[in-house]
Amino acid sequence: MPGKIHSRECKLAIVKSRKQHKRAEADEKLRSKRKCMTYIDHGNHLSPDIYEKVAVTKPSDYVDKYQEFLATTDEKKVIAQAIGSLLLPGTVLDIGAGTGDIPDILGIELSHYTAIEQNRDFVKLLRDKGYKVIDKLFPYDAPETYNNVLMSYVLYHIEQCEAMIGTAWDLVSDEGQLTVVTYRDNKDDYNNLLHRIGYTRRVNTDVRFNWLREKFASLGRISLQMARSYIYSPNICGLAASISFVATNTCIGTPELRVDLYKRILYEQAYIDESYKNDDGSYRFPMDHYIFAIRKVTLS
Ligand SMILES: C[S@@+](CC[C@H](N)C(=O)[O-])C[C@H]1O[C@@H](n2cnc3c(N)ncnc32)[C@H](O)[C@@H]1O
Repeated sequence: MPGKIHSRECKLAIVKSRKQHKRAEADEKLRSKRKCMTYIDHGNHLSPDIYEKVAVTKPSDYVDKYQEFLATTDEKKVIAQAIGSLLLPGTVLDIGAGTGDIPDILGIELSHYTAIEQNRDFVKLLRDKGYKVIDKLFPYDAPETYNNVLMSYVLYHIEQCEAMIGTAWDLVSDEGQLTVVTYRDNKDDYNNLLHRIGYTRRVNTDVRFNWLREKFASLGRISLQMARSYIYSPNICGLAASISFVATNTCIGTPELRVDLYKRILYEQAYIDESYKNDDGSYRFPMDHYIFAIRKVTLS
């Protein structure tokens, strides 16, 4: 019965073709997922144990909130001024360049400057500004060495620092310099306020800071200086928004935690008014930054 055979063959062919189609669909999905992962996850050059230490997780609304924060502070200007007086002539590799405020303020010559940045929004912004960008999650063995390697607010917990500093140091040319801007877990105004509101993670331990100081001293000749910037706000709500942004700009920060800290800061208005309120009713709140310069000295 040729008709029946034909229809069985036909059915088999249809089943086969459906299966092939499904497999092709699944392959395509996997391919586009991989493509997507390659784009989003710039850490695919790293081994999983290193990746775990350096992967950057930020609150979901980080990019917008960061820009809002920048509008309330002279932080980048203050840091740029401090760094500017330390940088050596020649090339600069800026690890974790962010939105490029520091090279913008310093007016670093484009041909001398390379950024490494993992956030795709910031990569686009930096490229739009004309900067050369390596869009990778650091540590990454860049092909050359640089007179200056800059790490401004990219070093966080000790494990992450350990995973980053060695490669950063290797990228400093002979007689070059690694410049690091970081915070300190001591009793400054910011940490005192966090302590008051019960968010005590960063108060007066200095373990991390001392670890960094020893680490840098083991690499080269170090100098350390402090720079103070301010958050400015016309009212207490703006101040609370900026401080709660900084406090949650971490791998465990979330928008919910930020709102919680914001409310707790508002609750401390009497304490804040006493020290940080100006005569005209506006606020000025200090933030301290520490700048290490580590010079690679060749022993003769
Ligand atoms: C707090 S911002 C500091 C930006 C800039 N350095 C400054 O001081 O203005 C940290 C930036 O470093 C980037 N970053 C953090 N860890 C990184 C890593 N391991 N590799 C590449 N970029 C990183 C983040 O995406 C973010 O843009």
